Amino acid sequence: MDSPEQNIPDFSIVLGIETSCDETSAAVVARLPDGSGRIVSNVVRTQWERHRPYGGVVPEIAARAHVECLDILIQEAMREADIAFADLDAVAATAGPGLIGGLIVGLVTGKAIALASRLPFIAVHHLEAHALTVGLTEGLRPPYLLLLVSGGHTQLLIVRGAGDYERLGTTIDDALGEAFDKTAKLLGLGFPGGPAVEQAARGGNERFDLPRPMLGRPEPHFSFAGLKTAVRRTAEQLAPLKPQDVADLAASFQAAVIASVADRCARAMDIAAERLGSGTPLRFVVAGGVAANERLRGSLRALAEKRGYTFHVPPAQLCSDNAAMIAWAGAERLALRLIDPLGAPVRPRWPLDLDAQPAIGAGVKA
Ligand code: KG4
Ligand code: ZN
Repeated sequence: MDSPEQNIPDFSIVLGIETSCDETSAAVVARLPDGSGRIVSNVVRTQWERHRPYGGVVPEIAARAHVECLDILIQEAMREADIAFADLDAVAATAGPGLIGGLIVGLVTGKAIALASRLPFIAVHHLEAHALTVGLTEGLRPPYLLLLVSGGHTQLLIVRGAGDYERLGTTIDDALGEAFDKTAKLLGLGFPGGPAVEQAARGGNERFDLPRPMLGRPEPHFSFAGLKTAVRRTAEQLAPLKPQDVADLAASFQAAVIASVADRCARAMDIAAERLGSGTPLRFVVAGGVAANERLRGSLRALAEKRGYTFHVPPAQLCSDNAAMIAWAGAERLALRLIDPLGAPVRPRWPLDLDAQPAIGAGVKA
């Protein structure tokens, strides 16, 4: 009998499964012989309603919610794609990083489908999936400089190819999405915080002079904990907050964040230009949930253009967690024959650049 690793066609159809945080998602993606991709179906169910009363994602609730609906979402994605499991070329599921309970749900389900249908299985790195999404949405191929900004990660990376990453910078405390979420909670803006802060900031004036963390530092690392504390102190001084105070604080927070992130990205652009060498086209990609922020996108686009980089960002619905990006990362790895055994473990902590050192001390976010 043939092993599932054999007979991999240039044209492939991959089922993707995403359960690493608070979105349950299943998708079918096709990879064409010219390396371009098509989303055939992409079903996403968010769990925000379940977590809202707690003001943040509760891991146990997330895992149970994935169990409740993942099989239904896979059925929906397959029905929409109008194919059977036997028509697939591989199954890809997120193996990490993320919340362990949810990861187990998705990984075990993906393995079971692969085993029962005798298909290759691919254990996908969630951040790699964010990193490669521009290949699916606009056919952009590495190398490029990537700013990855999500609820759990804030990194600047040179992407050289699937599995080939050089981390230039990371956060020494909170992730950017986390800073948005905590600020939203503090201002009573609800959950998830990023879109709520962005919305509140639209009606606000940047009247508070909040710190711009890490400005001018030679290494393109990030820090947001001090900024969050500054927002809290300002809010405490103003209490009780009027609606206009909330809007102004949101606007001031967002402006400080964007100034800091733009400064860090400018530094990384200089470093990446040097590392990639002359003759390599300079491309700057922003991905991850926070990349949905319009002000951030606008500022980073202007910065990239000023520095001779082209600017690329997936459409907002593919910036936040979805299984189309997992299926696509799976298809890219399948094309490189990077297939995983069914014993592939969940990896709640899993650095993208295995050589990267902690920004300060040990145990800092990888
Ligand atoms: O990538 P993602 O969907 O999940 C993780 O892998 O973490 O990112 C979610 C994060 C949350 O912190 C959310 O508040 C933030 O992205 N986010 C935003 C916006 N939309 C989502 N942050 C700022 N502005 C937004 N419009
Ligand atoms: Zn994500």
